[in-house]
Amino acid sequence: MDKKVTVVGAGNVGATTAQRLAEKELCDVVLVDIVEGVPQGKALDLMEAAPVEKHDTKLVGANTYEASAGSDIVIITAGIPRKPGMSRDDLIATNARIMREVVKQVSALSPQAVLIIVSNPLDAMCHVALEASGFPRERVLGMAGVLDSARFRTFIAMELNVSVENTHAFVLGGHGDTMVPLPRYSTVAGIPITELMSKDRIDALVQRTANGGAEIVSLLKTGSAYYAPASSAVEMAESILKDKKKILPCAVYLKGEYGFNDLFIGVPVKLGRCGMEGVIEIKLTEEENAALKKSAAAVQGLVETLKKLA
Ligand SMILES: NC(=O)c1ccc[n+]([C@@H]2O[C@H](COP(=O)([O-])OP(=O)(O)OC[C@H]3O[C@@H](n4cnc5c(N)ncnc54)[C@H](O)[C@@H]3O)[C@@H](O)[C@H]2O)c1
Repeated sequence: MDKKVTVVGAGNVGATTAQRLAEKELCDVVLVDIVEGVPQGKALDLMEAAPVEKHDTKLVGANTYEASAGSDIVIITAGIPRKPGMSRDDLIATNARIMREVVKQVSALSPQAVLIIVSNPLDAMCHVALEASGFPRERVLGMAGVLDSARFRTFIAMELNVSVENTHAFVLGGHGDTMVPLPRYSTVAGIPITELMSKDRIDALVQRTANGGAEIVSLLKTGSAYYAPASSAVEMAESILKDKKKILPCAVYLKGEYGFNDLFIGVPVKLGRCGMEGVIEIKLTEEENAALKKSAAAVQGLVETLKKLA
């Protein structure tokens, strides 16, 4: 295939991402992990599924980065996930070290790649990746909003007993607890959910969405969500590989948009061949603005922690 995507971290999210990329025949896939044998074994296992799944994607597993050279996209899932009782922020010291080390290596071998960051705490890891790569902000994107929106859409469809395909959700802000869902722009077949549900029900769904990651962690007990996160990272990758120019909520480094500077915040962006091709700005109400400010303050707090760690 003429496109190549490297997935770093062959754990739950990474391996599932590789599987979805392969089954959609979007690109050849290089899977990298530090654990000897794991990326090689998972890549071979996925290759052996190809005749049955009917695709000709080539997958390679490795413990080093040579095979990743010239990647169009690098999706980074390396790091440790949450355990019950842990917040995403508890992961910061370990995952910042891993992120810096990984980004230095992939950016040297794939200087034109778009980086899609998945490891948590997401917004802080984006800051590490931007700095360690030296890439322009257009090519360093964080995956969180697509997942938060997908969760919100799932709960809207469950509540109204309609197809998920009819749902659309609009989410701004940082990943998780401080995310800012915008119900007035969240729709079912074009109708705002504010016309279809009571405020109480909307608040309950918003709360469940913000808590969506923790809900899965508490059920699994030994790790965090990975099917929906992998699907979300692949939706971003697909829009870039096919130059679809989809508008998707992603964490991007803002330079004045929405009134924020030098901070990664989840906002709707256009994703095409060059990565982020524009931020879509909308007018927010006072209440929405206040929620976004709170979310930005939480990201700023993580950036301060990173500075102290450095
Ligand atoms: N952004 C999101 O919405 C979102 C959603 C789900 C998970 N996550 C995050 O994604 C990350 C991965 O989650 P997971 O469930 O796949 O975890 P996992 O433990 O299953 O996989 C992580 C993998 O990273 C590997 N790794 C560790 N250090 C490495 C290094 N230096 N180089 C290469 N590989 C390395 C590990 O060996 C492991 O295989 C976690 O930080 C998790 O919190 C983010």
